[in-house]
Amino acid sequence: MSPTVIDEALDFVKQIFSTDFSGHDYFHTLRVYKMAVRIGQEEGADQEIVALAALLHDVDDIKLSPETHEHKDRAVGFLSQHAVDKATIQAICTAIDEVSFSGTDSVVPSTLEGMCVQDADRLDALGAVGIARAFAYGGSHGRAMYDPDEPPTLNMSDKEYHLHKSTSLNHFYEKLFLLADMMNTRSGKELGKAREKYMREYVDQFLDEWNGER
Ligand code: ADP
Ligand code: NI
Repeated sequence: MSPTVIDEALDFVKQIFSTDFSGHDYFHTLRVYKMAVRIGQEEGADQEIVALAALLHDVDDIKLSPETHEHKDRAVGFLSQHAVDKATIQAICTAIDEVSFSGTDSVVPSTLEGMCVQDADRLDALGAVGIARAFAYGGSHGRAMYDPDEPPTLNMSDKEYHLHKSTSLNHFYEKLFLLADMMNTRSGKELGKAREKYMREYVDQFLDEWNGER
């Protein structure tokens, strides 16, 4: 794989995300890229597809770029301009399509490369970074950190999940604690379980502090 297309993809996403504060920032993409490549290496995946799908996985996100979402114009445009062959572009697009989580309807990627990128994207919602992202998201959407009178809603479908507005702490039960069990790869599962354990300890401490018990 030529290093230049990766460097150029890094520049491309840096430009796109320089103005985004919705949680899909450049550093999220950078973390997903590094983790996807690490998992891809451990799993023996095609690293060109993994790297480029990870770098481009959010550029045509429906919230960020609704007008290019359907045909992934930004990702496809970038790849065609960099002479990536048709079959590889197709494989990258498939991986990107299959990344996102939506309640109980989420897809298991059809390729190993898609699995690596999906695991990496999910891992970024877990652990210390995942905790920070959850509260940052909640704050930017005007949600409370926690409300003891509002229990979490479990087993939501895709539609229910997208309409649901919950406190940041409920988000741990509604999505984040489900992710480790949904990982596709061995490395994703191991890292996911460790990050989930760390988050569960965090939530225990949070609730104890809330109740004046620790
Ligand atoms: P992605 O598109 O990367 O799969 P989302 O857009 O669903 O993820 O979420 C981006 C980040 O915001 C994640 O870290 C996620 O945990 C967090 N987030 C999403 N929804 C909520 C919510 N209702 N409360 C708190 N954090 C949330
Ligand atoms: Ni993402």
